[in-house]
Amino acid sequence: MSNRVLLVTGGAGFIGSNFVRYWLDRCPNDRVVVLDALTYAGNPANFAMLSDNPRFRFYAGRIEDSTVVNGIFRVEGITHVVNFAAESHNDRSMLEPTRLIATNVAGVSVLMEAAKAFGSERVVHVSTDEVYGEIQTGKFKETDPLLPRQPYSAGKAGGEMQVRAHNIAYGVPTVVTRGCNTFGPYQFPEKLIPFFITRAFQDKKVPVYGDGQQIRDWIHVLDHCEGIAIALENGTIGEAYNIGGIVERPNIDITKIILQTLGKGEELIKYIPDPRGKGHDQRYAVDSTKIAAIGWAPKHDFDTHLIETIHWYVNNRAWWQPILDSSDYQTFVNRYYGPGLGSDL
Ligand code: DAU
Repeated sequence: MSNRVLLVTGGAGFIGSNFVRYWLDRCPNDRVVVLDALTYAGNPANFAMLSDNPRFRFYAGRIEDSTVVNGIFRVEGITHVVNFAAESHNDRSMLEPTRLIATNVAGVSVLMEAAKAFGSERVVHVSTDEVYGEIQTGKFKETDPLLPRQPYSAGKAGGEMQVRAHNIAYGVPTVVTRGCNTFGPYQFPEKLIPFFITRAFQDKKVPVYGDGQQIRDWIHVLDHCEGIAIALENGTIGEAYNIGGIVERPNIDITKIILQTLGKGEELIKYIPDPRGKGHDQRYAVDSTKIAAIGWAPKHDFDTHLIETIHWYVNNRAWWQPILDSSDYQTFVNRYYGPGLGSDL
């Protein structure tokens, strides 16, 4: 297939910007149009290397702004949509649980309305494994109920309901992906892996929530991007696909690998009372059989690529230091973890 025009919303963020670069390489006849609100987590530096690419175009704006969204569909002749736009951080959502509704729920509805009005050929909505809630044993299947337990995951579940309704009621050709915890280059340093790498690199303490035994299911960002691409090309309309299930690790194990790789001692670990409270999901795990059946297979070994990711951050301080120096970042860290964390904890 060729000559598609993809609208990638949230394309300046971590997974979105990796996806944009991945798609332009994968499909040399397609154009990619990014719409991103450039909130604190969206960073044009994530695609600075594309500024001369004639197949790439960037618009600053919010998905909840129907004038902007409809204008882009009209001017660019959008044929396909991939929606990454979201307030994506659990910790920020704990502080401001209402704020995320505008993008994660209302914005999704605006986007679906535009896809309906302009007759999009395919819309992929990028969701999360967190919509299922936590699971103590076994793995979630796509048919399991959505039982989110935190403001962020509840918002993502609300967004999914908008997608589902537009598919059923209006026939918008949607596919949903539910990815697990993702890691790799260009991840905003508020998430566990880059937060701990950048702190430990500076000999600052790393705050482990509770006992650090919470388990996450990890996937490299390029494997996640490939899953989304396969869902776009081969997914069945109206269906959801899990993307994950590769490796489960307790947070404390990941913390120790980061410290060891950086040559730091475990005295940098600081166990703190869990700021996510009772809503902190103990374990996520998804069954990816369904997406494997349409061609997805992960290619990136976790341990090798975690170390590669640590090295990427070590070698790209020019990318993350301005973020750490920004007042938004410092305000969030001080507000969430308490003023002590900025120096030592
Ligand atoms: O599962 C997919 C989800 O993964 C995505 O939908 C979310 O957008 C993404 O943020 C991520 O959610 P988590 O809350 O699992 O990711 P995070 O990196 O924030 O935290 C991972 C685990 O590490 C979690 O159990 C909380 C813990 N943690 C995190 C931070 C930032 C700590 O112990 N200390 C910390 O300072």
